[in-house]
Amino acid sequence: MVKLTPEMKETFSRIKLFPVATASKKGIPNVAPIAFVVMVDDETLWLADNFMHKTLANVKENPHAAVYIYDADLKKCFQIKGSVEVKTAGPDYEKMKKMVHDKKPGLPAKSLLVMKITEVFECNPGPHAGKKLL
Ligand SMILES: Cc1cc2nc3c(=O)[nH]c(=O)nc-3n(C[C@H](O)[C@H](O)[C@H](O)COP(=O)(O)O)c2cc1C
Repeated sequence: MVKLTPEMKETFSRIKLFPVATASKKGIPNVAPIAFVVMVDDETLWLADNFMHKTLANVKENPHAAVYIYDADLKKCFQIKGSVEVKTAGPDYEKMKKMVHDKKPGLPAKSLLVMKITEVFECNPGPHAGKKLL
């Protein structure tokens, strides 16, 4: 596990929509826009599954996932990779469900995807593009 730096956390805090990439066991890629992504600590993201289909199916058979965060004003871009566990019960799931319903009652909050961050890469263009940061 790795810990996001203050610079990465500041960039994360500005993002309204996250492109969440997953892949099936056979390696078929998928990317979906997900708004409800919360940084619960320096090394963990929670993703609320309200309407996921391929994303959910993929992480159930292949836990690897990635998101990128890009802020045009800060000119920062990071690829965040991690491993996902799906929860549909328990205290973390209930906490996520409350967070979702506090924002928008009626959303299904079907499951919680807990993403433990394993790697972070630079994704701005230039001499450091693609460099492993964490
Ligand atoms: C702006 C926006 C925000 C979204 N936020 C979420 C979200 O937080 N959680 C979710 O489950 N689906 C969210 N969706 C819906 C999924 O992206 C959509 O249902 C998608 O079809 C799921 O794709 P999948 O089959 O690849 O999982 C959002 C869609 C848009 C356009």
